[in-house]
Amino acid sequence: MLEVEEDCVTEEMSQWPISKETVRCPFAFMAQARNKDPVLRFDKPNELGRPMYLVTGQRECAFILSHQREFGSDLAGAMPGFDKSAVPLPFPEVPSFHEKSVIFFAGGDDHRIKRKWSMELISRSRVNAWRPLIEARTDELLDQLGEQNTCDFRREFSDILPVDILKIILELPEEAVPILRRVSLAIATTDVDPNITDEQKADKAQAFADLFALNRRMLEQRFAEPGNDYISSLARTQVEQDGALDVNALSIHLQGIMFGGDHAVGAFLAYLLTELARRPELQQKLRAQPELIEHFIDETLRLNPPLPWLFRHCEIETQVGDHLIPAGSIMIVAMAAANRDPAQFPSPESFSLERKHPAHEILTLGRGVHRCVGEPLARAVGAIVVQRMLSRFSGIALDEQKSVITPELSYQFRCPQEVHLLLDHSRAGISG
Ligand code: HEM
Repeated sequence: MLEVEEDCVTEEMSQWPISKETVRCPFAFMAQARNKDPVLRFDKPNELGRPMYLVTGQRECAFILSHQREFGSDLAGAMPGFDKSAVPLPFPEVPSFHEKSVIFFAGGDDHRIKRKWSMELISRSRVNAWRPLIEARTDELLDQLGEQNTCDFRREFSDILPVDILKIILELPEEAVPILRRVSLAIATTDVDPNITDEQKADKAQAFADLFALNRRMLEQRFAEPGNDYISSLARTQVEQDGALDVNALSIHLQGIMFGGDHAVGAFLAYLLTELARRPELQQKLRAQPELIEHFIDETLRLNPPLPWLFRHCEIETQVGDHLIPAGSIMIVAMAAANRDPAQFPSPESFSLERKHPAHEILTLGRGVHRCVGEPLARAVGAIVVQRMLSRFSGIALDEQKSVITPELSYQFRCPQEVHLLLDHSRAGISG
């Protein structure tokens, strides 16, 4: 485990945000915070005067995420940067029947409606129908590697596949791909960076405006001439409910799904290949026993959460562990720490396919009413990619010299900066 000097830890435990260095490598810091108190109150409140708690115990994190009434996800007015009134409606000239929050921050009835809209997208039968298309696209990307015996996995694969999958599942037109890639880049480069330039801000605003315009065109077209796709059925469901098409609420909703299915999936794939490439003995084992790939995915998700933490707002004074949390507090629910809580996961730092806990104890995909709707899809994609890599290459190793596994600086996502693979092309023979 990484060492963090006591001084540095004491200093950092006084307030949020924690330093950039700790954000990049948070695990030792989180473990020390948990040892001190699994529900640690920072000395200083945030800029808006709200008490800030860092929650690092698995049980405490799971409790908070499972109690939506007590701990909501609407942070407007409680955290800087989450002011809803500052975000304009995409089409202010058109009335909307719904709150403008994207599903992640929605609560109560508004969340129930948006959750229902989302759940329609990812059913078992839809995932099964998409599977051959996702396999074919995975194969195409791997074919493009040709006989190369090295691969820049992010640039040649894991940064590309998620948008291609969104194209498959939402039946997006070709013109959507560059728009989504621009939004993706804008989010990655501007995420909470106080130093972003006016040009970057304008670029980001334009990328989002283009995405909303595209979403509106698709919604209007598919409402007028419905097909069997998700966007047609989303438009129909909403019109049956409200009487007229709500291009604001549905464009925001589609953007939420696109956001959910992009960076997190790319990071997940990058971590899967990093873990695989570092373990030649495991590659052999997974080829011989492909049924273990699910456990391999669980361990990768446990140790490498693409979203290291979530924020919640305490709505009602509530007891969590030994603490009575005052209403108005902000809870930083650190899945990166919860997933390594030794009380739940013995020898938490070791990568083991033998763990017996139920998969939902891993909090990487959330818990409670906001738990990730894309989970079955993400797991299916992960399994396809691992299977295809193992069947195509008899050896996959990490080029440790060129790879940079420490993530880029982001307070929102974790993704290894550079994953360079060394590939052995002799056929390996797992059934695909
Ligand atoms: C391994 C990949 C993924 C990870 C790590 C991940 C992570 C998460 C997490 C932690 C949440 C809970 C947020 C909260 O409680 O505030 C969430 C929610 C969500 N995810 Fe994912 N996600 C992944 C893949 C996907 C995919 C593929 C999609 C869709 C195509 C998706 C769509 C969503 C949506 C719409 C929500 C909001 C659910 C709600 O608020 O009710 N995610 N995801």
